[in-house]
Amino acid sequence: MAARIGFLACPGTLPASPERRSDAYEHDRQVDALRPALADRGFELVEIDWAAPLDQFEGLALVMLGTAWDYQDRLKEFLTRLEALEARGIAVCNPPQVVRWNARKTYLQDLAERGAATVPTLWLDDASRGDVLSAFDRFGTDRVVVKRQVGAGALGQHSFTRDDPPAAGWTLGHPAMIQPFLPAIAEEGEYSFVFVGGAFSHAILKLPAAGDYRIQSMFGGIDTAIEPAPADLAAAEAVLASLPFDDLLYARIDMIRAGGTLAVMEAELIEPFLYPLEGPGLGTRFAEALEKTLETKVYYQ
Ligand SMILES: Nc1ncnc2c1ncn2[C@@H]1O[C@H](COP(=O)(O)OP(=O)(O)OP(=O)(O)O)[C@@H](O)[C@H]1O
Ligand SMILES: [Mg+2]
Repeated sequence: MAARIGFLACPGTLPASPERRSDAYEHDRQVDALRPALADRGFELVEIDWAAPLDQFEGLALVMLGTAWDYQDRLKEFLTRLEALEARGIAVCNPPQVVRWNARKTYLQDLAERGAATVPTLWLDDASRGDVLSAFDRFGTDRVVVKRQVGAGALGQHSFTRDDPPAAGWTLGHPAMIQPFLPAIAEEGEYSFVFVGGAFSHAILKLPAAGDYRIQSMFGGIDTAIEPAPADLAAAEAVLASLPFDDLLYARIDMIRAGGTLAVMEAELIEPFLYPLEGPGLGTRFAEALEKTLETKVYYQ
């Protein structure tokens, strides 16, 4: 019988769900890239809500985190579920320890300590107008970006200039990080390097719409497949090597140029979009890596 592989999804992404989001086409693109390639190797891909009753996971050999886009607000519940699946002998890729580490951007501090090139960052329990004003001086810049330590999709993110600082009394209201605004985002773009089974698969360059600095497609950002320069690929590989985990089934390393070299903006290890259209070999590479993972069952208990 074909081994069954779970693709964890959520009501916002599952086909036929009444709550399906308008950007759920990303779910379809990933499933469409993986399903036939997995079938060629005898795997059946099953889309399933990560929060579905546990008995519906019966018979799955492995689950990938897929498009579980609503885990952010339910992190504890998500981790409990992933641990329950592991306890049932289902391999979880990437594993719950990786999710726990990667869900808060403070992991960037670990990467910096482990030698990765990172963007200079101030870490704060919350950010106030005063923190933003002192960040201009600290970084010697006229523009900064303030982000939540836990967040995605540029949600709740702000960019302030010396000419247009936050109002008196302003706070972010969340654990915060402040970075110098890197002009490379609009001049060159942000790179995504997709790794499957520890090997480089493909790279994308993402540019914001004119006048914006956020590369996310919901803000008009444009993605292009690229052949990375050897030095840039080496920089991404160095970030991958600095992760405190080996043998990840998939990883996406997002990078931006900061003073000549690429620095890591994010290491996306939970449910990154893998840009299947820009990486036509993704499905085959993924199926091969999955087969190896199942053979060795090298995941973190
Ligand atoms: N220091 C910076 N300089 C310039 N642009 C930045 C900076 N930090 C973030 N941005 C812009 O904001 C976007 C969102 O930031 P980031 O990726 O760190 O957060 P996120 O909310 O986790 O987003 P996502 O999960 O969608 O990638 C980046 O893709 C980039 O376009
Ligand atoms: Mg990002």
